[in-house]
Amino acid sequence: MAAGKGTRLKSKYPKVLHEVGGKPLLAHVIAAATAIVPPKDVYAIIGHEADLVRKAVEQTGINFVLQAEQRGTGHALMVAHDALASYDQVLVLSGDAPLITPETIQRLSDFHFSQKAAMTLLSAELSDPAGYGRVLRKGPKSNEVKAIVEEKSTNPAQKKIREINSGFYAFAVKPLYARIGDLTTENAHHEYYLTDMANVFNRAKAKVIALKTANPAEILGSNTRAEMMEIDALMRMAKCRQIMAAGASIFFPQTCVIDAEVEVGTDTIIEPFVQLLGRTRIGSGCRIRSYSVILNSEIGDGATVRPGSILDDARVGAGAIIGPYSHLRPGSEIGEGAHVGNFVETKNIKLGKGSKANHLTYLGDAEIGAGVNVGAGTITCNYDGVHKHKTEIGDNVFVGSDSTLVAPIKIGNGAYVAAASCITEDVPEGALALGRARQTTKEGWAKAKREALASTKK
Ligand code: UD1
Ligand code: CA
Repeated sequence: MAAGKGTRLKSKYPKVLHEVGGKPLLAHVIAAATAIVPPKDVYAIIGHEADLVRKAVEQTGINFVLQAEQRGTGHALMVAHDALASYDQVLVLSGDAPLITPETIQRLSDFHFSQKAAMTLLSAELSDPAGYGRVLRKGPKSNEVKAIVEEKSTNPAQKKIREINSGFYAFAVKPLYARIGDLTTENAHHEYYLTDMANVFNRAKAKVIALKTANPAEILGSNTRAEMMEIDALMRMAKCRQIMAAGASIFFPQTCVIDAEVEVGTDTIIEPFVQLLGRTRIGSGCRIRSYSVILNSEIGDGATVRPGSILDDARVGAGAIIGPYSHLRPGSEIGEGAHVGNFVETKNIKLGKGSKANHLTYLGDAEIGAGVNVGAGTITCNYDGVHKHKTEIGDNVFVGSDSTLVAPIKIGNGAYVAAASCITEDVPEGALALGRARQTTKEGWAKAKREALASTKK
């Protein structure tokens, strides 16, 4: 069920697309579902901003059911009739409860089958049950459920019940659709509550049971932003634990933000306040220093990312050193053992093995060979106001500081570019290129000037 608006979030985006652990709520629930049934048997009921929701998750290969008007969780299942009628059993998951695990869904399904129930709900014992529907069992030791009472309809005694409805269910499809028409909207929200099926089935003498989960944290829903951030923190910490269990160290893991799909090799050290996002892969024996933000990038074994670096869709070779304060933009490929230093920005470049660009430089749309030294303040002028042009630099080139290389341009192997040159013509292999005014020195000029000024002082 993923059709709701999420009114309590006060957002223009649908609730199930809000992100925790680096991906939308719904994507987590779909991942749990497709771990136990094939995508072709998974249906997302969508409604509010349906197109956005569909686009965000359609690559999972699941199906969609449109609930154009959202008239409650019971109504969501009414709308899904045609999609589900040919199945024997259906598992119903809440699109806003992303911590659910495949194991728990499987246990719910197995229990439902073994008890031959019409409806089985997953429940949990919470220390603070506020906001959730309460489970009324037929007796203290009974598996059977009399009713589910929504928070708004509870009397004071029911409010004290700490066993809550998780919003995860298993239903036998035939009895569900034989009786779902008995639901009414006579309640605080004027909606069709799926939870009222407990009542409906009891009146029909069909079996309704509850399975209490051993891990209540798994069923937490995210109705408010505060709840969502609690779930995010739990997921981030679980991810850090997984990375540490696999052999990497994370200092002060509670300060790091690491997305679900990130991989980190053994003996890598991650310092406080690091973000590793998207499909980032970090090799073994690396050190990722504080305040670095790395998105969709690959870092080779033994590389160092010094503090405050930003990497976006970049590849960094083994043993390379990046930062502090480097900005590697999309398409940056930094060779083995290369250095990219302070305040260096790169975009769509190849920097060869062992080459260095250590200070205050912009390298864009460039192919740079091995063993090259790019002096401080070098700029590739890659943009003429309309088009982007390429700079090609051979192996073992020395580019003096403060040079501007006006692309398209080629600098041959082993060439030298004198400091502060503006290079507009290709430089052949082994040559020296100077592109600057010749120095003139006027002996005694400054001294004479100072003396002349002093004589005018009163
Ligand atoms: C629901 C349960 C409550 C349970 C809680 C667990 C009902 C009436 N109540 O309450 O007993 O304790 O979940 O988290 O079911 N949705 C639709 N179409 C709709 C309405 C909702 O698809 O017309 C979807 C929402 O997008 C959401 C899910 O169903 O993913 C649950 O809806 P929500 O409004 O969050 O229900 P709760 O108030 O949390
Ligand atoms: Ca909810």
